[in-house]
Order: sequence, then C-alpha cells, then structure tokens
Amino acid sequence: MDRIKDAIRTIPDYPKPGIMFRDVTTLLGDAGAFRAAVDAMVQPHAGKKIDKVAGIEARGFILGGAVAHQLSVGFVPVRKKGKLPWQTIGQSYELEYGVDEVEIHVDAVEKGERVLVVDDLIATGGTAEAAILLLRQAGAEVVGCSFVIDLPELGGARRLEKLGVKVASLVAFE
Ligand code: PRP
Ligand code: ADE
Repeated sequence: MDRIKDAIRTIPDYPKPGIMFRDVTTLLGDAGAFRAAVDAMVQPHAGKKIDKVAGIEARGFILGGAVAHQLSVGFVPVRKKGKLPWQTIGQSYELEYGVDEVEIHVDAVEKGERVLVVDDLIATGGTAEAAILLLRQAGAEVVGCSFVIDLPELGGARRLEKLGVKVASLVAFE
C-alpha cells in the first residue's frame, strides 16, 4: 500500500484554508499504482455476487469504470444534480466543505441488483451515504463500498457501517 499512498499528492489549503486535499490524479497517472489500486479495491469483495458498480462523480467515475471492467459488470454514474439527461431521483448531503446533491437515473438499476459503490475518497461519508440511499430507493442491494482513501478522523466509514454496508479503503490519512 506504500506504493499507492506515495502516489497520492497532498495540496494544503485547497479548495479552502485548512483542507489538506488528497489528489489522486498523480496516482491515476502512474500506470502501476493505478492498476494496483483497482486490483486492491476489488479484492475485499472477492467472492461476492456483484451485478453493477456505481461510481460517484467525478473521480469515482474513473476508478469505478476500471473496477466495473475488472469485474465484467455494468457501471452506474452517480452524478451531481442536473447532469443526467433522463428521469432522475436525487438525494442531498453535506460535504466536508459545502452542500450538494447527487442523482441517478430512475432506471439505473433493476430491483434486487447487487451494487458495489466506488469513489476515490471517504471523508464524512455524506456523499457515499447519499449514493447508497439512492441506490436502495431504486431497488438495489448495496453489497459494499470501495475507496482508495479514508480520512478516519471524519468518521465516514463508521457512518456507512451503521447503514449495514461493508467498507473497504486502501490507505488512510490523518
Ligand atoms: C470528494 C470525493 C468524494 C467526497 C467525499 O468529492 O471525491 O466524492 O468528496 O466527501 P464526504 O465523504 O465528506 O462526502 P467532491 O465533493 O470534491 O466532488 P468532485 O469529485 O466532483 O470534485
Ligand atoms: N473530499 C472531501 N475531503 C477531501 C480531501 N481532504 N481531499 C480530497 N477530496 C476530499
């Protein structure tokens, strides 16, 4: 995991003073680290039946697309409000730095489909919680979540575990 952690760039005071922004673009640009991260995101869920991967905008699209390819399953984009062209359902949530809303298409999943949620990072867990609630509302069973980065001090993983979802992350930053 050192290879993955070392490939992540930290930008102090972005996008606001006091935030240490964990930038995965450097990891994505490193072929070996990118592949190692995708493999490690799949591994904790090995043996589970997974029908689809849901990736959270924006960096969750890149990682989630790769995870879906690895698992040979379809991909569901969980998008910021107003971006999807068909009928949607939405859920608002609070961020470490602001408020936002995510949406999925009403027909993005079929009833009973088993979905793995993927994003680059979990902080407060608000974004992933909104994604899980949306997928459940659409009839899916969320079988787990995979993140590259956990910020454990912000309690996101505990928040998702309270929803009964298994949470896996590759590296932690205090
Ligand atoms: C980041 C990150 C997660 C979310 C985690 O996305 O990629 O999606 O924040 O925060 P939380 O656990 O406190 O909800 P961001 O909101 O910066 O959106 P972007 O990927 O579109 O830039
Ligand atoms: N999203 C929420 N907090 C973040 C952080 N510290 N770095 C990158 N993305 C984030």
